[in-house]
Amino acid sequence: MNYANWIFGKQMVENRISYPMKNLLLIVILFILAGCYYDSEEALFGKPAALTSTCNIDSTKFSVNIKPILQSKCLGCHSNSSAASSGAGIKLQDYADVKIHTDRLLGTVQQAAGYSPMPKGGLKLTDCSISMIQAWITKGSPNN
Ligand code: HEC
Repeated sequence: MNYANWIFGKQMVENRISYPMKNLLLIVILFILAGCYYDSEEALFGKPAALTSTCNIDSTKFSVNIKPILQSKCLGCHSNSSAASSGAGIKLQDYADVKIHTDRLLGTVQQAAGYSPMPKGGLKLTDCSISMIQAWITKGSPNN
């Protein structure tokens, strides 16, 4: 069966569209259908695993998740050695010091009203990083 005839009507296809053009049209249609199929799969089952598995906040740990975020985004100013000169004396390097500041930590990275937005002068943390900090604080900010 000739699918181009079926889709566009025999007359139109025979009169107006050359043979290579018909094939091209079929390819375009197949791509559109493939696109629809992918959309509906995403709608039915959520995002592909590869996109969601990178942000699993259920098992958030200080050593595995929180410390690396602080290290890469905050210690430039809040390390033990830099805090006095560029971090307003606030140290975020060791667990004990981070723990002292957990009451202000989330508000600053969420850049909420009433908090000094952090990281100062840098890009806001990713939603995943902020969610992890929130989850960790909600659990009582354990040293795990
Ligand atoms: C470029 C230097 C710099 C970086 C990077 C930085 N801070 Fe700060 N931070 C400061 C300074 C300076 C202050 C003092 C308040 C101010 O000047 O806004 C401060 C204040 C704070 C405060 C107290 C503010 C309040 O409203 O209570 C917290 C909490 C904080 N920072 C956390 C962080 C976190 C978390 C990061 C990383 C995501 C970070 N900071 C990155 C310089 C920095």
